[in-house]
Amino acid sequence: VLNNIVVVGSCMIDLVSYAPRLPFPGETIHGSKFVTTYGGKGANQCVAASKLGGKTALVARVGDDIWGKKYIENLKKENVSTLFVKEMPQVSTGIAQIIVSDSGENQIVIVAGANDELTRQDVENAKTTIKEAAVVVLQLETSVDIAIKTMELCKGISILNGAPALGNYNPKLLKLPTIFCVNESEASIFAGIPVNSKRDAERAAFELLSKGCNSVLITLGAQGALYVSKREKKCYHFNSPSVKCIDSTGAGDAFIGALAYLLANKKDLLKSIEMSCIIAADSVTRQGTQISFPDSDILKTLEHLSRD
Ligand code: RIB
Ligand code: NA
Repeated sequence: VLNNIVVVGSCMIDLVSYAPRLPFPGETIHGSKFVTTYGGKGANQCVAASKLGGKTALVARVGDDIWGKKYIENLKKENVSTLFVKEMPQVSTGIAQIIVSDSGENQIVIVAGANDELTRQDVENAKTTIKEAAVVVLQLETSVDIAIKTMELCKGISILNGAPALGNYNPKLLKLPTIFCVNESEASIFAGIPVNSKRDAERAAFELLSKGCNSVLITLGAQGALYVSKREKKCYHFNSPSVKCIDSTGAGDAFIGALAYLLANKKDLLKSIEMSCIIAADSVTRQGTQISFPDSDILKTLEHLSRD
């Protein structure tokens, strides 16, 4: 199998301003630094898996502006197959405006642009590759319909990252993926209950199981993650190593990309989640998204981990 991890999702150009804190509505504040980097949850997750050594392909659309071409070059540089990445005439490449505070928190507005033009036909074109993949990864920065169609084709493990979250959704969105993965605020929106603590997150996870999920993985930032499955109905907790948070943008993507890589390489699920927490924590110690994700060297330092 050539590409054992296939990601169907978004490419965004991240316009990132670093500031002492996040501004209040209507407020203007001085920032300290501005950078333009490659982002978008789909591409981030794909690059995260590729940097660890995964054989990856991305199904996505970029615009025919300067950013689209640069984005495709970036993916090639990161060893991602771009066979299914299309340049769309007359639309702009997706843009994310991001503010990162000194404490590492962020605020993001995305304008999907070309990502909105990703169609069922794009998925159809990549059908064979999707069917052969060991792991298929989806998010919600591209249309729900595409995520559903892809999961219906998938014969391996599917991971749906429910981000950005939806209050109203097709129930298939929860029923189809092998693993439904969200952060606390997304879990709250999908489950329809407030999530302000680990206990709440656990309740939300069980609520999502009752809404039809096969398994639910909730990332809890510095607090790690939790996992429940329909089969066992037991909640597993995972810690995250404590690190100095410089920029948490894309940490969830580093987590999911790592999980996809590890599962595609037949690692045990619980051990994979534990390792993914460490990989995500490592990414928050550096600025940026894709540029901050660790390469395969980190895997050597994780080999000794064992979970009983
Ligand atoms: O998850 C982080 C990503 O979300 C950023 O790279 C930005 O592009 C937004 O899509
Ligand atoms: Na980072």
